[in-house]
Amino acid sequence: MTRLFPMLIGILSLADIRVAVAQVDYPVPIIFDTDFVMPPSDDSMALMLALQSPEIEILGITTVAGNDSLERATSDVLRMLEIANQAGIAVYQGADMPLVHEKSDYAVRKYGNWYSNEAPPIPPGGFATKKAEDETAVSFIVRTVMSRPQQVTLVAIGPLTNIAQAIRAEPGFAKNVKQLVIMGGAVALLPDGAGNMTPNAEFNFWVDPEAAYVTLRSGIPIELSPLNVSRKSALTKAWYEKIVAVETPLTQLLRETLGHQFESEPDRAWLMYDQIAMASVIDPTLVTSERLYVDVDIDHGINYGVSVAGREIWPGAEGAQQINVQYELDWPRFIEMFVERVQKPVH
Ligand code: BDR
Ligand code: CA
Repeated sequence: MTRLFPMLIGILSLADIRVAVAQVDYPVPIIFDTDFVMPPSDDSMALMLALQSPEIEILGITTVAGNDSLERATSDVLRMLEIANQAGIAVYQGADMPLVHEKSDYAVRKYGNWYSNEAPPIPPGGFATKKAEDETAVSFIVRTVMSRPQQVTLVAIGPLTNIAQAIRAEPGFAKNVKQLVIMGGAVALLPDGAGNMTPNAEFNFWVDPEAAYVTLRSGIPIELSPLNVSRKSALTKAWYEKIVAVETPLTQLLRETLGHQFESEPDRAWLMYDQIAMASVIDPTLVTSERLYVDVDIDHGINYGVSVAGREIWPGAEGAQQINVQYELDWPRFIEMFVERVQKPVH
């Protein structure tokens, strides 16, 4: 059943005052593309938010190597669906390696285990009974989008390998995607735009820069949720305690996996990367965006995987596409919504 909520989205900047009226049809049918790991990972909390939000209809979950291996992403997400009593949602395995990027000493030293071929660890409560589908992630993504032209929103919160492969697999794919919401990149043009993997590169784009390049230039309407907007968030111990004050299978999972992190580091504040990207699909008025040309450096030099954004095309960026780039967050409304959704009883 579709409900129609007209939304007024005001986007204000000193140089440019624009008011856009967007109509969002709920529930929004999405494919959730993720380098999933159990909590305290942000992917897991983004999935909790999606599962607990009536505005979202998850058509399927596709996994990709990123935070950890593809096998770990698949094993953990299957278990999480069981915990959330949503094992009916199908999971499709995607890419186990980036398009081009290979393991290096630097990758091993820094955060991320995308190159790993170790067996996944046992998730909380044991491995899920249910297995992933036989169909591949790319086949599922292409089939679903092509059968529902201009209707499906892709939410991509890991390296963009699956999405780039889908774009390459089917020439008509890009123009049939309604919208692609990406957590990735860091924009030096806007405040808080440093990288988190190299001085200027963000993790998801750095793991698969070629995939990010193909995706950003595909013509798909894109909403980018870069580090700039992630840095407006802070999941503190006080917010954690508020969430786990209510007992549900999801808050219990957070207590088991996040609780000891706050015990050892009570002052730690966790950035909420993927949760913000997901929340912006549920309620686009939570974020403020600017339309910018965004491209990704795929030269294997010091800027490999760096996203570069400009208000006009610059030499070398010919063919780059204008997209919405989130840079501001209504933190009070976002965190209230997050707490309320995660605390809700599971179905
Ligand atoms: C992104 O990298 C991953 O570690 C997180 O899950 C998030 O998607 C932040 O740079
Ligand atoms: Ca992620």
